[in-house]
Amino acid sequence: MNLPNKKEARVRTNKSSIIKRDDYIVPDSVKKAGKSKNYCILTYGCQMNVHDSENISAIMEEMGYTKLEEINNNTDVIILNTCAIRENAHNKVKGMLGRIKHLKETNPDIITIFCGCMAQEEGIARELKEKYPWIDIIMGTHNFHKLPIYLDELLKSRKQEIEVFSIEGDVIEGLPVKRDSKYKAWVNIMYGCDKFCTYCIVPYTRGRQRSRLKEDIIKEVEKLVKDGYLEVTLLGQNVNAYGKDLDTDYNMANLLESVAKTNIPRVRFVTSHPWDFTSEMIDIIAKYDNIMPYIHLPLQSGSTEILKKMGRRYTKDDYKKLFYEIKSKIPNCSITTDIIVGFPGETDKDFQDTLDLVNELKFDLAYTFIYSKREGTPASKMKDNITLEKKKERLATLNELINKYANLNNQKYKDKITEVLIEGKSDKEDNLMGYTDTMKLVNIKADKKYIGKIVKVKITDIKTWSLDGEIIES
Ligand code: 5AD
Ligand code: SF4
Repeated sequence: MNLPNKKEARVRTNKSSIIKRDDYIVPDSVKKAGKSKNYCILTYGCQMNVHDSENISAIMEEMGYTKLEEINNNTDVIILNTCAIRENAHNKVKGMLGRIKHLKETNPDIITIFCGCMAQEEGIARELKEKYPWIDIIMGTHNFHKLPIYLDELLKSRKQEIEVFSIEGDVIEGLPVKRDSKYKAWVNIMYGCDKFCTYCIVPYTRGRQRSRLKEDIIKEVEKLVKDGYLEVTLLGQNVNAYGKDLDTDYNMANLLESVAKTNIPRVRFVTSHPWDFTSEMIDIIAKYDNIMPYIHLPLQSGSTEILKKMGRRYTKDDYKKLFYEIKSKIPNCSITTDIIVGFPGETDKDFQDTLDLVNELKFDLAYTFIYSKREGTPASKMKDNITLEKKKERLATLNELINKYANLNNQKYKDKITEVLIEGKSDKEDNLMGYTDTMKLVNIKADKKYIGKIVKVKITDIKTWSLDGEIIES
C-alpha cells in the first residue's frame, strides 16, 4: 500500500520530464471483465478532471464496460473522480459516499473506485481506508492508467487496493480517450504545477510540472482535425509555463503557433498564470484568426499586499499592464478571471483594492470564491481573523459588481453578428446552445441540423450570463 505524503509531494527536481509510452497495460485476464457490465463515473472539479474522466471512461470501455449516466443499485462499477480545491468540493464527495454506501448495502457486488485530487491528499487515503473500508480501489492522479491492473488484482483477491504515489509522476502517453463531445476536445499539454501559490493544494495533488512533447501534442491535434473536430482547448494548470521543464527553448507561444497551423478552426487554452504570460504569446494570439480572443487570467486579489502573501509573484500594476497589453493588441478579446475573498489578513482596504480594480478592468466574467483553508499549504498557517459572515458579505459585494460588468460587456453584442460553434441542445426549452469566439454562451432557436457547425448568429437579446441569437447563415 502506497499512501501520499505532503513532504514528498513538495519535492521538485531539475530533471527533465520522463515520457513513458508503454506503461498503460490491460492484462489479458481483464480484457473482457466488463462484458455485460456497466460503469458510471462521477466527476468533480476542473477541466483537468473532466479530461481525466474521458481517459478513465475509455480504459473502462477497453475492458468491455458500458457507460451509465447515473448510478443505481444495478451499477457494476462506480468511479468517483474527486476534487480537493476547496472544502465544499470535499463535502460534495463525502455526501456522495453516503449515497453509495446505501447502494452497496442493497448490492454488495458494486465495485467502488475513488480517484482524483482528493485521493492524492495526505491523510485522506488513510481516512477513507478507516472510515469507508468498502471502497475497493483508491488510486491517485499520477497512476490512474494502472486501473486495469488494480481491477485485475481486486477481482482475483477481493482485497482493497490502494496505491497513491506522492512524487511527481511521469507523462504517460498512449492512453485511450472517449471524448464527451464530437466537436470540441480537451488536449493536455502539461500536468502539475510548480507555482505553489500559498493557498493552493494543486501542486501537492497534481505534482511537479511535466510538459508533453510538442510532437505528441501536434499529432493529437492533427488527428482531431482529421476526425472533424472544430475546437481544441489546450489544458494545463499553468499553460504559459509550457516547456519550462523540458530540455528545449520551445515555449507556449511556439506551441500556440504550431497548433494554429494545424488549421483547426478554434484554439483555446486554460489556465494562464499572469507571471508567465509573455508579449510573444499575445502577438501570436493576435496574429492567428483561429486562436480565440478569449483569455482566462486569474487575478486572485486586487491588493498587492495580499498578492504577495498569496505568493502570486506579480503586483496589481503588473497585472494591469498585462491586461492592457492584451486589450490593445487583441482589441475584441474577452478576459475573465478568478478572485478569492477573505484570504488570511485581508483588510477592508485590501478588499477595496480588489473592488477598485474590478471597477477599472470590467472583466467579462469572474469566478469568485471564499478562501478555503487547505491543510498543508503555507496559507493554512497564516492567521485568519476574518469572520465567515464578513467573508460572505465581501463575496456578495464583489459578485454584485462582477454581474454588473458581465451584463455591461454583453450589451456590446446587441444586434451584432458573431460566429458561434453550435454544441447541442440547451437546457432551456428547445433551444440550441453554443459559444462565440469570445466564449459567450448563446441560446438560439434553430433546427438541430446546425449542431456541430460554426454559424453566423445575430444577437437579439442580452442576459447577464448569456446571449440570445438567431442564425443568419449556415
Ligand atoms: N480557496 C479558495 N479558492 C481557491 N482557489 C484555489 N485554491 C483555493 C482556496 N484554497 C481558486 C483560485 C483558482 C481557482 C481554480 O480556484 O481562484 O484560480
Ligand atoms: Fe494553484 Fe497557483 Fe498552480 Fe494555479 S498557479 S494551480 S492557483 S498553485
